[in-house]
Amino acid sequence: MPVVAFYSKDSNFELQNEWENRLKIYYPSINLVPLLSDQAEKAITALLWKAPLQRVKKLNNLKALISLGQGVDHILRDNIIDDDIPVVKIVDPFMAKSMSHWVIMSVLNFIRDTFGYYDQQKNKVYKPRKEINFTTFKIAIYGIGSIGSVVAKDLKQLGFKVEGWARTQKQISGINCHYGKNKFKYLLNACDIHVCLLPLTSETNNIFNNSSFQMMKYGSCFINAGRGEQVVEEHLIKYCKSGHITSAILDVYRTEPLPANSNLWEQKNINIWPHVAAETNPETAAKQISNAIKFIENGKTPPNTIERKLGY
Ligand code: GLV
Repeated sequence: MPVVAFYSKDSNFELQNEWENRLKIYYPSINLVPLLSDQAEKAITALLWKAPLQRVKKLNNLKALISLGQGVDHILRDNIIDDDIPVVKIVDPFMAKSMSHWVIMSVLNFIRDTFGYYDQQKNKVYKPRKEINFTTFKIAIYGIGSIGSVVAKDLKQLGFKVEGWARTQKQISGINCHYGKNKFKYLLNACDIHVCLLPLTSETNNIFNNSSFQMMKYGSCFINAGRGEQVVEEHLIKYCKSGHITSAILDVYRTEPLPANSNLWEQKNINIWPHVAAETNPETAAKQISNAIKFIENGKTPPNTIERKLGY
């Protein structure tokens, strides 16, 4: 009976039960126990989202950790977990599509000026607003791995010009893929809509700052569903205030939940979402997680184990 330590969002028992029921479909003998309980001492695997890592570190039988999300930065933060513990991430086509839908919605809201029409409706103004000619627009997707590549292809399918950027050279049919610092600057300068879907690493921390916003064209749109730490929020606010960035749509923040006193709330052309662009779905992710647990039980390395040196 494999014991799996579980922690997600303040150790929510309802969520733990939901995961256990989903996982049992593929691995009937699985036993989820709260990370903070004594039973967790027996666990050889832990299923985690934003867990107290000092507690995880104390569990001596753990052979691997599984992230309850696609990002693993919450496990690698502050180098608390030893380097030799494998960390597995979720790679889920359903979640990639959810992200794609959210980005498409954000792009279309910008292009069709949805928020401008909301404002007009409040004042009963019935008047066409300036239309943006999307055929001249270029969209940059920063981060074109398992999620970003789906987003890039879907946007292209809708008739947009899409360019991608990653740490290393990628091949995605129909998409111009770039890599390296110089090409990052090239895209900042050449594109009109900038979509960040990057994993958080030491290289991507603060990557969107005064100098990157300055390189974007006047009137750009900035969309972030990567990680909050990739954006210097005060710099973004400054560029939104001046109108250099016409619209920013954010799903992630340096501090989550976004504190009530954050200046991001007040900025009219910043649209706030509470980290919901592509939520982990127990129904679609359970099969691969139970599979990963079987690999770990058998002393094998599960698919989608991250490269610790790269941080994702
Ligand atoms: C969400 O942010 C995730 O990492 O899955």
